[in-house]
Amino acid sequence: VQNRVTDILGTQYPLVQGAMRQITLGEMAAAVSNSGGFGQIASSMLPLGRLRAEIKRAQRLTDRPFGVNVPLHRPNAVESVEMAADLGIHAITTSGGNPVKIMDKAKRLGLKVLHKVSNTEMGLKAQTAGVDGVIATGYEAGGHGGKDHITTLCLVPQLVDMLNLPVIAAGGICDARGVAAAFALGAQGVEIGTRFIASTDCPGLDYYKKALLDARDTSTTYLGHGAMNLRVLKNQAVLRLMDPEEKTQHIRPVDYTSPQGDAETTLMPAGMNAGLIRKIMPIRDIVEELMLGCRKISLELEAIFMEKD
Ligand SMILES: Cc1cc2nc3c(=O)[nH]c(=O)nc-3n(C[C@H](O)[C@H](O)[C@H](O)COP(=O)(O)O)c2cc1C
Repeated sequence: VQNRVTDILGTQYPLVQGAMRQITLGEMAAAVSNSGGFGQIASSMLPLGRLRAEIKRAQRLTDRPFGVNVPLHRPNAVESVEMAADLGIHAITTSGGNPVKIMDKAKRLGLKVLHKVSNTEMGLKAQTAGVDGVIATGYEAGGHGGKDHITTLCLVPQLVDMLNLPVIAAGGICDARGVAAAFALGAQGVEIGTRFIASTDCPGLDYYKKALLDARDTSTTYLGHGAMNLRVLKNQAVLRLMDPEEKTQHIRPVDYTSPQGDAETTLMPAGMNAGLIRKIMPIRDIVEELMLGCRKISLELEAIFMEKD
């Protein structure tokens, strides 16, 4: 596949692995890049020394391009951008803030920047700041899906119409049908998060993977409000947090990064697509299924809509 997104990323496929805090580190980023996609190291909560080690680890495991995700509200955001460029990364993604904060520096360092947006106002701001593309994150997405609750189906085409930038669709995409739908909406790439947790390349988190396999259409909910809300799998901890009768200040849900995590007490961010996950597979097989499946669907659609004389 060749388009504006593969040109920016230098990848075989226009497929980005969504950065996931403390999950997508060097090993997973390399596994996605070795499969033809764009792997990413999530720098969220990583001290600079650890970020350096994870970038080096990925570089030992792949000679293909991969990136770093930089949440802009974090205190070491600028230093993380500098470190990525210094270690030879050529494209980063940014989230959680206005990219204007790092754009001058990123351009001077020769970095390509894709910024995550969840409404068109953010998209226009990112374009004005000079980013190379946007990642349109819909309400379906695992983790922070934005404050306005705009679905991927509606957000992507509005950004495509408004911006002169390539749009990468994120949120709710899980299989080849989702990839084909994103391209039909005008996206030039897709970002996948939740599906990659359910992979043999994702280290540990067996209870989380099992919860994804058990999930159905109604298994996720949106917790909190404003920009920092979170789509998570429902479990006992989440249901208690949502219960108006509970004194929520006394509830301490466990973070999935904790070794004490289990399926009932832990916050497990996941997209609405969790109900589509049927099998824990190697990342290479997931990427192949998504990309070859999308090609098959596009040929089937062409056959349906071909004019008959
Ligand atoms: C467990 C988890 C952690 C995440 N952490 C981050 C993060 O650190 N930075 C970020 O920009 N997005 C983060 N996201 C969002 C993903 O990068 C991606 O955009 C999203 O998962 C796409 O939607 P999907 O899960 O429906 O595929 C996270 C998502 C999940 C599920």
